[in-house]
Formats: sequence, C-alpha cells, structure tokens
Amino acid sequence: MSKLKIVGMGPGSPDYVTNIAKESVQNAEIVIGAKRALALFQNWISGESLLLTAQNVKEGLQYGVKSAKADKNVVILSTGDPGFSGLLGSLLNIAGKDVDVEVIPGVSSIQVCAARLRMRWDTADLLSFHADTSYEKKMKLVEALKDGKRVILLPDPKSFTPKDIARFLIDQGIRGETPVSVCENLTLENERTVTFTLDRILNQEFDVMCVMVIGED
Ligand SMILES: C[S@@+](CC[C@H](N)C(=O)[O-])C[C@H]1O[C@@H](n2cnc3c(N)ncnc32)[C@H](O)[C@@H]1O
Repeated sequence: MSKLKIVGMGPGSPDYVTNIAKESVQNAEIVIGAKRALALFQNWISGESLLLTAQNVKEGLQYGVKSAKADKNVVILSTGDPGFSGLLGSLLNIAGKDVDVEVIPGVSSIQVCAARLRMRWDTADLLSFHADTSYEKKMKLVEALKDGKRVILLPDPKSFTPKDIARFLIDQGIRGETPVSVCENLTLENERTVTFTLDRILNQEFDVMCVMVIGED
C-alpha cells in the first residue's frame, strides 16, 4: 500500500523540532506545508516543496495523496501536533483507505501553554475554535466552565478572538472575574504570557498565534 507521512513541526522554534521530523523531511521527495513550516525545515528540504496557503489546502493535500500513490516519498508538515486542530483530519478524508498515513507527532501549542502556566492538562478540557465557531461548540465552553472545569482553547483568529470569547462568556453568565491566561507566540522570540480576568480582556487585542486558558486553578 502507498504510504504518506504527516509530520508535526512543533510550536515554531527549531528547538522543538524532533529528530524524526528532520529525518522524515530530509528523506522526502516532496514536502508540503505552510510558509512557516517550510521556512522552519528549509535546511532539511532537498526535494520538491509545495506551499500551502489558505486558498489551496485541499488541492495541496490532494497533490500529496496523488504523489504518494505514484510511490513518491511525501511529507506533509502540520503546525504543532497534526492531530490537534491540524491537517490530519482533512488529510485522512482525502487519503481514504488507499494510502497508509503515518503520523509523526509534534509538540502542540497546547502543551507548551500548559507548561508555561505550570498546569496539569489531564484534568482540563481542550477545545479548538479554529474553523469551528458553531453555537454548539461555544456552548460546550460555557458548560465546561459552569461545571468548574479549566479549559485550554485555541481561539479562531478571525471570528472568535480572545476578546470575542470574553464577551460571549460574560453574556452567557460566566463571571467577569473568572481568571484567563493568554499565551502568544509560544517558543518564539516575541513570546508573551499574560494572566487577567475575563472582564479585563474585553478591549484587548492579542496576536492571532495564541492559546487561552480559562477557569479557576
Ligand atoms: C490550525 S491551529 C493548529 C494547532 C496545532 N496543530 C497545535 O497542535 O498547536 C493554529 C492555531 O494554533 C495556535 N498556535 C499554534 N502555534 C502557536 C504558538 N507558537 N503560540 C501560540 N499559539 C499557537 C494558534 O491559536 C493558531 O491560530
């Protein structure tokens, strides 16, 4: 059966790129990934590379699957870990049962965020609003907080940013004094972590590259 690898690139710093990720890219005939991913691996790419943009994700993944079926050694790079709000879901849909997809895990932004805040995350709820800002999903967040859970989440960079989230939660009856931390640009030079309360972030802007933690410790 044809094979294809999807490789987690980690949160962005070269320090968090695993050896197996580098080796996979080094051995690949075709590497497919976003600008940030291709830049991070530029020293290890020796074959063809294909840039994924917001406009061509489906076509790029289709090209990867087609090339794998033609026995090319293909690597698809996904930010953080491929299985958390990464490219894995879309890739599996496209690959179907004809291609054996191998997942090489990467360090997720969720993990780095938990580490920065020195929090355990086995007891937290994890949510991603990336590409899913449905009312049902938003209400899952409300229910988790009402149940006293701490939630680690990825905001949606366009339509459910940290301040939108704070507004929504307060409107749904979550206390304005609820603690919230926002970790921006984790592992990168401009990394920043701030801890406030929901009502204090209502008017604040954060970088699109951020992870939020909401709820009592
Ligand atoms: C499409 S999701 C991919 C998540 C990725 N699979 C992961 O495991 O981290 C992209 C979002 O992840 C978050 N993210 C990824 N890298 C980050 C970093 N270095 N610092 C903060 N947030 C990051 C941001 O919320 C960003 O908008």
